[in-house]
Amino acid sequence: MRLPTIPDLGDLGGCRVLLRADLNVPLRGGEVADDTRIAEIVPTIQALREAGAEVTLCSHLGRPGGRPDPACDMAPVRRCLAESVPGVALLENLRFDPGEEAGDPALAERLVARHDVFVNDAFAVAHRSHASVVGPPRLRPSAAGLLMLVEVAEILSLRRAPRRPFVVMLGGAKVADKLGVVRAVCDLADSVLIGGAMCFTFLEAAGHGIGASLCDPSRLEDCRALLDGGFPLHLPEDLVGLGPGGRIGGPVAGGAVRQFGRDLPEGWLGADIGPGTAALFADTIADAGTVFWNGPLGAFEDPRFAAGTFTVAEALAETRAHSVVGGGDSGAALASMGLAGSVSHLSTGGGASLALLEHGDLPGLAALRESAERLSLPTHEVEDRD
Ligand code: 3PG
Repeated sequence: MRLPTIPDLGDLGGCRVLLRADLNVPLRGGEVADDTRIAEIVPTIQALREAGAEVTLCSHLGRPGGRPDPACDMAPVRRCLAESVPGVALLENLRFDPGEEAGDPALAERLVARHDVFVNDAFAVAHRSHASVVGPPRLRPSAAGLLMLVEVAEILSLRRAPRRPFVVMLGGAKVADKLGVVRAVCDLADSVLIGGAMCFTFLEAAGHGIGASLCDPSRLEDCRALLDGGFPLHLPEDLVGLGPGGRIGGPVAGGAVRQFGRDLPEGWLGADIGPGTAALFADTIADAGTVFWNGPLGAFEDPRFAAGTFTVAEALAETRAHSVVGGGDSGAALASMGLAGSVSHLSTGGGASLALLEHGDLPGLAALRESAERLSLPTHEVEDRD
């Protein structure tokens, strides 16, 4: 894929640059709880400043639903950012304006009004056709930032030429959100390992008893078709269940905990993959050439159901395979084990990395390419990570 890069914009001396970042960071007690996304944008700010540009940042934070919400105020992000790059301006939360998620061109006009060029370094939101993602490239010369280029190269390398065997491990709750990517990776990967709450719709489709586990009946047919399609799909072979009346949230939340095979009795909630499956998945990861992981394999926030996710996270940290983790909860699980630095690439984008793996393109990237085409600006081939 070719994208316009910052050098392709020419001389930026004296230019006012609007930089779209994804500073959608977790907050705790009114302060930034994890500053990874802030740290990741700093090299692009520095590169633009070194080129003589004046940088204004913009981002969304949380899901305030199109109106101001004090819980999603940018002030903590601004304070944290100022510690790394003093003096950089950051606009108000873009999602305080209903036009952002609606993709309103009028909002894009207002955003670029005082700026000469646009740089998009917000990989984590590049799968959304929001006003600040797809609008500015229609109005100003535009380029991808440094983080965007690294993220895109990592995921496109997985699609193009993964070192084999290529193993994809998917978990998380919502099967509906993941079916597209499951179908896509069935054609790309040598093994697709399924865990997390989403595995129960697959297990039900395969005729197993899933007790009180999460199931999306509207997706049973799709799951059945995938299971019957001759693809290298692997469901858990054993499970850890929480007994009737129990709650997720730690031992104090109560409830019996037991290991089962692939069938759960009436009233039992599947909350983790079992130790046999965790060992099998860990062995598959150890023998892989490339691994992509998105989504926890159980309710790891409750220590009774964390073993599956922690076992595969350790395997990922130890494998010689090239390992890519798609943001979100799987990134949080790695971080909570102190293993965030042990994988080859920890993406800042969960949904975005899945969408790019599935489709090979994103609305935010297409907008940058169209902008360069319209203005006859040069572009660069996004390098393979190797
Ligand atoms: C993310 O955290 O994945 C991105 O910031 C996108 O957020 P969204 O899912 O609220 O659009």
